[in-house]
Amino acid sequence: MPLPEPWSQLKKTVIAEVKPSPREYGEIDQFIAKTKRELSTALAGKGIEADVEIHGSVARDTWLRGQRDIDVFIILRHGASRRDLLAVNEAVKGFVGEGWVEAYAEHPYVKKAMGGFDVEFIPCFRIEAGKRLVSAVDRSPLHTGYLLDHMTQEQRDEVRLLKMFARGIGVYGAEIRVGGFSGYLCELLVLAFGSFDGVVTEAAQWGDPPAIQLVKGAKANLEKFKEPLVVIDPVDENRNVASAVTETALWTFVAAARAFANRPDEKFFTPPIRKVSPQKLLSELKERSADVLFVVIPDEEPPVPDTLWGQLYRAEKALGRALGDRGFRVFRSASWSDEGERHILVYEVESIALPPIVKRVGPPVKLVKDSENFIGTYLDAPERVSGPGVEGGKWWVEVKRRHTFTGVTLRDMLAMGCEELGVPKRLAEMLRESGTVLINDEIEGHMRGEFPLFLDGFLRGRPDWLG
Ligand code: UTP
Ligand code: MN
Repeated sequence: MPLPEPWSQLKKTVIAEVKPSPREYGEIDQFIAKTKRELSTALAGKGIEADVEIHGSVARDTWLRGQRDIDVFIILRHGASRRDLLAVNEAVKGFVGEGWVEAYAEHPYVKKAMGGFDVEFIPCFRIEAGKRLVSAVDRSPLHTGYLLDHMTQEQRDEVRLLKMFARGIGVYGAEIRVGGFSGYLCELLVLAFGSFDGVVTEAAQWGDPPAIQLVKGAKANLEKFKEPLVVIDPVDENRNVASAVTETALWTFVAAARAFANRPDEKFFTPPIRKVSPQKLLSELKERSADVLFVVIPDEEPPVPDTLWGQLYRAEKALGRALGDRGFRVFRSASWSDEGERHILVYEVESIALPPIVKRVGPPVKLVKDSENFIGTYLDAPERVSGPGVEGGKWWVEVKRRHTFTGVTLRDMLAMGCEELGVPKRLAEMLRESGTVLINDEIEGHMRGEFPLFLDGFLRGRPDWLG
């Protein structure tokens, strides 16, 4: 079933916007040819037996206009060892000269901004489809081979549309921060359902998404994948290409596909650029009936983004649990970071003022020692209001509690023992040493950079494509 009009016209417009210009193609082709030639010579000069190849979206012609990153793979021939990977990196550093950055995925690789591009030089081993991998990036050349064999010319633009769509609704990228759809996953989805329209029509109807398997007859044990979305890698049946996709990303995609299938619109691809007024946000925070807590953590040396976001999300969860344990009702939370010098965790709570009395349930009466301790603690405690008494098999007591918190008391409460709750050690230390907790418009001093934009989205709480 075709998507409703005016999609066929709009589709042409969007493709024209996302396809690189002839000039961009020219620039990238020239850069690639030169790099391949010169780097091959440099490697040979060092006695390294390797092939220099371009992979990723540039090799498959599925890159987006304005995209400047190039994935250069240096593929060691058979018989090479992990030590040789390091030798490649050293040779690459010499080749690109000053300004290189060494980064780590599963193993180290070298990055550099050169000739107007962000180039990644990734050393890996040559393997064949179905054979055991030596390192995870070894699959990339196989992906390119598979896609070049199976993807038509038209489908490349369909992939571009899907990438733009996923990006527009905030779920493009397999990195931890996003937990979404990688470029390769978009490519496979287009192959599986023929076109962008096919993917969207299909996803709009996903109840429980079916496991997608492009190579029929592969004996992959589909059951073994527990992730919300399963798309088997056609070059490695033991790998789920969609393993990074979180439940929220999956269902955001389904909801957006459903809305798009009903009423195609350009806003899905290019969300509006909002003008945000920090002043308005602050007065909104003041007047809102729910309260917002901000945990601000300055950081001098954050790790690479994937590690950092893993830590932030774990901290967000753990502190959310801590707030819940202390009697706060947390509606929603989110994490923000500039990835350079500050992180801000945001919690919307029903109310920062807690009811003045709380009932605590104590140990089972049958535990003699625990019962004695409980009674001893509360019998003459100044905060005791009623009890301790017995209800069912357990002790209970009602006590007064501090029910008005300031940022300072909250911070002390959250920082205390937060490692046991699951806050990663590094963040826990920084929270204790230099973190602050701010309530509602107390966040004023931090309204700079991209943070106000993020906060605006958090407070609004609904996706742009929903209007
Ligand atoms: P990239 O992240 O650069 O993706 O990874 P891409 O396909 O080039 O897409 P864009 O257009 O830059 O966003 C390069 C290659 O590494 C492998 C894929 O083969 C990918 O094409 N890869 C990367 C994966 O298999 N899984 C991932 O999660 C990331
Ligand atoms: Mn890429």
